[in-house]
Amino acid sequence: MWIPLFLDPPLQLLYCFQLGLPPTLRALWANPRLLLRPQKLRNIFMAGFWAVFGPGLDAHSAPAKRVLVTPHASGVVLEIGAGHGHSLQYFERAAVDRYIAVEPNEDMHPGLRRSIADAGLSEDDGTALILPFGAHEVGRIAAAVGEGQVDTIISFLTLCSVPNAEQVIPTLCLTLLKRPGGTLLMYEHCLSPVWSSRLIQRFWSPAWSVVWNGCRLDRDTARWVEQVPWSEKHVGEEDIPDWHLFYRAVGRYVL
Ligand SMILES: C[S@@+](CC[C@H](N)C(=O)[O-])C[C@H]1O[C@@H](n2cnc3c(N)ncnc32)[C@H](O)[C@@H]1O
Repeated sequence: MWIPLFLDPPLQLLYCFQLGLPPTLRALWANPRLLLRPQKLRNIFMAGFWAVFGPGLDAHSAPAKRVLVTPHASGVVLEIGAGHGHSLQYFERAAVDRYIAVEPNEDMHPGLRRSIADAGLSEDDGTALILPFGAHEVGRIAAAVGEGQVDTIISFLTLCSVPNAEQVIPTLCLTLLKRPGGTLLMYEHCLSPVWSSRLIQRFWSPAWSVVWNGCRLDRDTARWVEQVPWSEKHVGEEDIPDWHLFYRAVGRYVL
């Protein structure tokens, strides 16, 4: 079992190249000067890859996301790493006043704007706002939306890519969320509780993060989220075994 598990990340990276390279090469062909902008190329790669890979993964995780989002995303909803806006389809539209998407990869924004429109929200009437920031830029986010003004933070498959996530999680939640009642909805892959899987996650994370634009397999998100003084914790279950390299941390946390 351990040999296939060990070989899983490099095989997934090959698949990732298969999906991400064609749009990246097309963009390079159209504009060879992109070679001088490696971060822009990584963004194009990630957006192109996620456009094909993301919907399948989203469909697989739909039951868990629906349980989290549909009854609990309300008021001012801020999503970090919104990507192409997959989570919007789970919104109970009448419960959401405003949607703020924090998405640093601007090549994701066209897809995100389509999902915002499909959800009946709009940047023009102020019911939606896209911030091209990282989730770690808490000061910039707070300057744009105000401190303690957010009812719900959504983080789906994003904290794995956020630098210093251990510090960012409490800072982000305690700065932006309303108190009491502000809620974090989280669906993340994280460090496995099984030591041998952890070794594999730690071994592959450096290479994985280069291809996956900063994402790491070994983030201890399930533990880090516990640093916040939540008044309620509803830790969810995912149908993924604890030895899995993409073991999930799923939950609803209320201040
Ligand atoms: C695996 S995708 C998940 C997208 C979306 N949450 C979903 O579930 O479909 C990770 C997302 O996190 C974004 N991201 C990467 N670094 C980030 C950061 N520092 N802050 C916020 N988002 C980040 C990426 O651009 C990408 O859109």
